[in-house]
Parts: sequence; structure tokens; C-alpha cells
Amino acid sequence: MVEPQIERTSAVTTFLKFVHLGAIALWSGGLIALPFLFWQRRALESDLDLERLHRVTRLVYVELTSPAAFVAIGSGTALIFLQATFAEWFSLKMVLVGIMSMLHVVAGLVLMQLFLPKGKFSWRSYVALMSAYVVVIAAILWIVLAKPQIDSNQIAANLFEPGGLGRWVRHFFGEIRMPTP
Ligand code: HEM
Repeated sequence: MVEPQIERTSAVTTFLKFVHLGAIALWSGGLIALPFLFWQRRALESDLDLERLHRVTRLVYVELTSPAAFVAIGSGTALIFLQATFAEWFSLKMVLVGIMSMLHVVAGLVLMQLFLPKGKFSWRSYVALMSAYVVVIAAILWIVLAKPQIDSNQIAANLFEPGGLGRWVRHFFGEIRMPTP
């Protein structure tokens, strides 16, 4: 009898994907909520209200969004070793994840200044930061779910060929000698 070949995903992969997706939901949700919280600063004058908003905003950034980012990146890195990800779409995803991480740092920098006596967060900053988060998160989700076929040879020939980077360096910088200690 011929047994049908069924490709099974290992339990570890399934577990890591659950962790990855859960962490991404928290990370993305936190990032989208933060500009709105920053914007609330404009309407508050009393010390008590300011203190309360400061605490909530710090809680969302420090105790929710940042740990979720660590877990998302950690579980994603573990998934690299379990899934075949040596494809162009994955490299593009990593570029966008890099941009998302930079924008995460931007929220931290805003938070550090916002609750100083002259701190403010304008309507324009709100729209700019919120749109940047929504666009980059939507782009990552689209790439990872659609997994588009991109032919890297049309952009940079032999980019994914083993030893390609070495040849590229020699082509542009000539022979490089490493001093032996
Ligand atoms: C350093 C950060 C990250 C790494 C290393 C990473 C890595 C991975 C890997 C290896 C997979 C499995 C791919 C496959 O099924 O072929 C995966 C799945 C996934 N990732 Fe990430 N990821 C990261 C961040 C993110 C972010 C920021 C998002 C969304 C905003 C995201 C969304 C997803 C989704 C939706 C899946 C499931 C795709 C599927 O099962 O078809 N990841 N990730």
C-alpha cells in the first residue's frame, strides 16, 4: 500500500508560531496605542492627571510593548532555524522589521521628553507616528502572509549564492588581506 506523504509541522514549530504571533499582536497593538496616549498629553494640566497618564504610558511602553518585542524577535529568530526562510521575501521582511524596531525606539525617545514641563506632542506628530506604525506593520503582515516571489537576480545577481558577498567585496575593494596574529 502506498502511504501518502504528509508533511507535518513539528509541535515545537507550532508552539513557536503561537508565541510569535501572540507577541506580535501585543507589540503591534502597543505601538499603535502609544501615539494616541502621547497625544492625550495636550489636554492635561493638573499634576495628578499628568502623573496618571505618565504611569499608563510607561506601563504600555516598558512593561507591555518592549517585552513583547523581545519575545517576537526571539521566537522569530528560533523559527529561522526550523523553517526554510532562505528566500527573498524573508530578507525584505527583515528590512521592514528593522524599520519597525527603529520606530519602536522613536516612541521611547518621545516618552522621555513628553512629560517634562514643556513637553508636547502635536496633532501632526500623532498622525505621522501612527501612520508610520500602521504602514510598516501592514507591510510586514502582507509580505509574510503573501510570501511574494521576488527574483533577487534582477536586483543584484547571485545575491543568495554562497561566497557571493566575498566576490562582491573583492570586486569593489580589490584583494583584502587579513593580518595573521
Ligand atoms: C526579528 C524579528 C522576526 C523574525 C526573525 C521573524 C521570523 C519569522 C519566521 C522564521 C517565521 C516562519 C516563516 C514561515 O512560516 O515560513 C515567521 C512567521 C511569521 N511572522 Fe515573523 N519574524 C519577526 C518579526 C515579525 C513581525 C514584526 C511580524 C508582524 C508585524 C511578523 C509576522 C509573522 C507572521 C504573521 C508569521 C506567520 C506566517 C505563516 O505562518 O505563514 N514577524 N516569522
